[in-house]
Amino acid sequence: MHRHATWIALCGAAAALSVSATAWASPERVDELIKTTLQLDPNVERGSKLYRAHCASCHGTDASGNPDKLIPALAGQRRSYLIKQLADFAELERAATEMHTVLAQKEVSEPQEWADLTAYLNGVQPLSKPQTGTGEWLSLGEASYRQWCASCHAEDGRGDDDGFVPSLRNQHYSYLLRQMRELAHGHRFNVEADLVLFLDSLGADEMKGLADYLSRMHGPIRDRTRMRDDGYVGD
Ligand code: HEC
Ligand code: HEC
Repeated sequence: MHRHATWIALCGAAAALSVSATAWASPERVDELIKTTLQLDPNVERGSKLYRAHCASCHGTDASGNPDKLIPALAGQRRSYLIKQLADFAELERAATEMHTVLAQKEVSEPQEWADLTAYLNGVQPLSKPQTGTGEWLSLGEASYRQWCASCHAEDGRGDDDGFVPSLRNQHYSYLLRQMRELAHGHRFNVEADLVLFLDSLGADEMKGLADYLSRMHGPIRDRTRMRDDGYVGD
């Protein structure tokens, strides 16, 4: 695996992504759903109600996830990334049976509900103590993160809305590690092929170190002073 060559290709992909979301090589239907959802006016209060009724049983009342069941924390996650994931799940572009079942329910299957849910989740206080790793491969993880990941996910793991790049902060070790492995094995179909190849080039200990390093990153992903009265953090 020529990691360096893949890396050069990835840098090009990241540059294209930041220019326009349409540069993303995703199926048209997902693009349409994302565009529609982003244009709707979100209702945070309705999002909160929908969350309690349809999501809290697995993701937790405070959206802090469940590390033992590999369920991600959603609190404070970037809105554009959350929307893309919901669209990917709904169109079966990301493998996850639980989420396919959830989004097949009529009450949460439409862009307006996704707009409401994601605006609500984006404003929820991130969890302060995610599950971390053992610390064994921490320095390897830190070095690898700075070299290979920070250019897209940012030095402090906050991600980027324009490129649909997730925040990797405030997330559980077990989930981060599992997603790295799953991404490397192609369980998400609507992602750059180069990214999948690249993640597949990481060693097992390196992945553990990366997940451990990331699970210790905390804090809001953007300036909270930009929060509106209704709790929605605009972009
Ligand atoms: C039956 C349990 C269950 C319920 C209910 C559920 N989820 Fe999930 N959700 C999961 C699991 C498990 C995953 C991880 C999937 C994977 O392994 O890729 C997940 C992943 C996600 C992700 C991807 C997060 C990321 O960081 O990539 C989002 C977004 C999400 N869920 C939103 C929701 C929303 C919104 C609802 C309510 C409408 C909901 N979920 C209800 C189990 C559930
Ligand atoms: C070219 C930009 C780029 C680079 C480099 C990159 N990523 Fe990502 N990463 C992304 C994007 C975009 C996604 C979202 C994929 C999707 O839409 O499902 C992602 C998703 C992830 C996820 C899933 C998060 C979740 O909540 O489910 C993890 C974990 C992750 N990346 C870790 C890493 C690590 C660790 C590295 C370095 C070894 C890395 N990434 C390098 C762009 C990048």
